This record gives sequence, C-alpha cells and structure tokens, in this order.
Amino acid sequence: MKLWGGRFAKSTDIMVDDFNSSIRFDKRLYKQDIKGSIAHVTMLGKQGIIAKEEADTIQGGLEELLIDIELDKVAFDIEAEDIHMNVEKLLIERIGNVAKKLHTGRSRNDQVTLDMRMYVKDEIGVLQAQLKELLHTLIHLAEDNVDTIMPGYTHLQKAQPITFAHHLMAYFEMFKRDMERLEDTYKRTNSLPLGAGALATTTYPLDREYVAELLDFDRICLNSIDAVSDRDYCLELMNGLSMLMMHLSRFSEEIILWCSHEFQFIELDDAFSTGSSIMPQKKNPDIAELVRGKAGRVFGSQFGLLTTMKALPLAYNKDMQEDKEATFDAIDTVKMCLPVFTKMLSTITVNKQNMYESAGGGFTNATDAADYLVKKNVPFRDAHAIVGQLVLYCVQNNTTLENMDLEAYKAISPIFEEDIYNAISLETCVNKRNVLGGPSKTMMEQVIAMNTEYLNQL
Ligand code: ARG
Repeated sequence: MKLWGGRFAKSTDIMVDDFNSSIRFDKRLYKQDIKGSIAHVTMLGKQGIIAKEEADTIQGGLEELLIDIELDKVAFDIEAEDIHMNVEKLLIERIGNVAKKLHTGRSRNDQVTLDMRMYVKDEIGVLQAQLKELLHTLIHLAEDNVDTIMPGYTHLQKAQPITFAHHLMAYFEMFKRDMERLEDTYKRTNSLPLGAGALATTTYPLDREYVAELLDFDRICLNSIDAVSDRDYCLELMNGLSMLMMHLSRFSEEIILWCSHEFQFIELDDAFSTGSSIMPQKKNPDIAELVRGKAGRVFGSQFGLLTTMKALPLAYNKDMQEDKEATFDAIDTVKMCLPVFTKMLSTITVNKQNMYESAGGGFTNATDAADYLVKKNVPFRDAHAIVGQLVLYCVQNNTTLENMDLEAYKAISPIFEEDIYNAISLETCVNKRNVLGGPSKTMMEQVIAMNTEYLNQL
C-alpha cells in the first residue's frame, strides 16, 4: 500500500506508477533529503512535538540509512514514487512504527524544494571551484602573452592590432561575471522553505529558525505559498549556466578557427584532439566543438523549465517535478565541460609568429596612420580620407602601409615624414593604446595584477 493509500479503494495502475514516479532521477537527492529530515526531526524533538527519544531513534535510523545508500546497499522502489517516500518507507522497514512520526508538520511540497535548494547550493560550490580553475589558466596564459601581437577583429575582418593577452582577458572578464552570477544565485537560494507545509504551514509549533541554523540557511522563506511554488532559483542557476555556456561556446568557436589551417594561431595538444576514421591527416578540435554544441543543451533545459513554470497557478503542481531533470542536466553538462575545456586551453601551443604576421596584413594599423595625421593637425575626417587613399594605393599595388615608400606617401599627402613608419609599427599601435582596459603591455600588466588579486580573494 502507498504511504498515502488510505483514501483509495484501488491501487494505482502500473502505468501510472511508472509515469508518476521520479525516483529514477531524484534518487540523487538522497543526501539532502536525509540531512533535511534529520534537521526536521531534531527540531520536532526539541519542540516536544514528538518525544526526544523518538526523535533520536529516527535520527539514528536516518544516519544508518544514509551510510547504506552510500555503500550502495539500498534498492529504491519505483512504487514509492520519489526519494522522499522511498526514504520514509525504508526507514519504517528498518526502525518500525516510530518512523511514521518523521513526517509530522511537513509536506513533500516543502521537503522537495528544501532538497533542491540544498542540492543547488552544493553544486554552485563545485561549479565555482571549476570556474576558478579556468580563471587561473586564463591569467597564466595571458601573463605569457602580453607581448604576443595578433589581429583584433570586428565583423571577423581584421580591425586593429591587439595582444593575445588582451583577447584572453576579455574572456576572463566574462567568466568573472559568470562567477558573480553564481554567487548571486547562491544568496537567493539560501532561504529555508521547510515549515511551509503543503502551502499553508502547520498548526504544530515549529521552530523554523532553528532548522535554518542546523541546515546552514541564511534566512527563512517569509511566505509559505511562495516557498512551495518557487523554482526561481533553479531557473536563475540555469540562466547563469546558459550565459557561462554561451561564453564557453564563443571561446570554443575561436579556438576552432585559430587551429584551422587558414589561421594557424594555435595548435591543440594531441591529447585534446581527435583524428578521422578516413582522412589520415586530420586533427580535429572535437572538444571545443562539443562544448560549443552542448551550450544548446543547457539553453534547452532553461527554456524547458521556464515554459513549464509559465502560467502555473499557485501553489504546488506536479508539473514542477519537471524541474529536476532540467536542472540536473544543465549542472551535469557544465560540470563536464568546464574541466576538459580548461585542460585543453592550458595545453595549447601559441604560434606567436603566425599571429604577428597576420596582424601585419589587412591594414590593422590604418587607424594609427590617421591618428598620425591628426597629431600633425589634420582634422580626423580628412585624415580618414587620406588613409583611405593610402589603402587603395596599397591594394592596387599589392603592398602594405609598412612597405610603401615615403615618396608614395608624400604623393598622397605631403604631411607624411619618415616618422610615419614608427607610428604605424604594430608594437607602437599596441603600446600607444595605453588606456586602462586597452592592449598596451603596461595596462595589461596592471589589469592582470588587479585580477590576480581578485582571484586570490575568491
Ligand atoms: N516528486 C515530487 C516532485 O518532485 C515531490 C513533491 C510531491 N508533492 C505532491 N504533492 N505530490 O515535485
């Protein structure tokens, strides 16, 4: 008989058991569920809602059950529906009738969201540790590449010279914000729903503050209806994870481009590349491609649950059981991507020479040639037009601004002097951009130092 079977004259159809049951996927909440129950029963005992000895017996039984689950000695039962009722049923089997007092003053509705909040809090810690490793790798790679000049792009057309460090530290800033988003989600998840009951609390004199303290929650959900209805924290986490995956997928895309024959800016380590079953020459960036691809999967989880929650009336509805697979899959996916991506990144070889040569083609110093004229008092708009003519000349004569001779310059504008060559060298272009946030070596070193301090505080 079901734990809730009293008012039923028939048992559920076997198909219903299978359809309704969530134990397949919510069994991973066993630890949170048992810890939550221990806190609840401790409070029941302290408040005299059940006898202290009864509370102790139940606590002992739960502790032993936890150990046995961890040792893989326990079989869950699909007919017991979910992790909450499986735990209760197993406890009754082990310690007898006293276990039936565990659920006093509690509903599965506040229990399930307690478990999920605890789970999300735990996993945020794991995700942050992984993200921190990525930030470390990025900063080390940037330190080694403050002098590595490469082309910066807009519209995927060469725009202005930058350094590889500058480009890498752009991702650092993105991942730093992802870290803050996780931190933020943690704060809002850290509110205790237990005590909300099914939706309207309970008539027993619960001590919610005490339970919050035992379970390390910062505060208590102040509305019991909200407490059992809210899955914002799952959605917020998935939003943060989507953003993180979006950043990882952009980075992956660039890595894929950079190791193509056309770019040859970097080479992936053999241990982080794969071959082709037919083309013997191939070395494919599968890891980066898979990370790029898995971004879609995380967005899908977020949108799936968002759509499930849309227009649901208050308070609990069974639809909300769908929160779990979505949230778990998003977390699992990111947890798989982050470490392998980090290791792949830390083992790349940077082809500094190729990057440098590539920055030299494509007139990435054209803006600097215009600025040169501006410094000689030519209005910027006129300078822009003059440099446009220089570029046209180069295109027609198959040369570059660095290689044009001074006579050709002077034919277009007499203002050009010998010092133009220094003004448009790639090193000058980079190091004259000495504004905070810019590519110059001085500024990069300053920003790297600031971010190292940030990392040390994490
Ligand atoms: N397995 C359920 C879920 O994940 C637990 C809550 C069930 N509550 C209920 N009233 N049926 O949402």
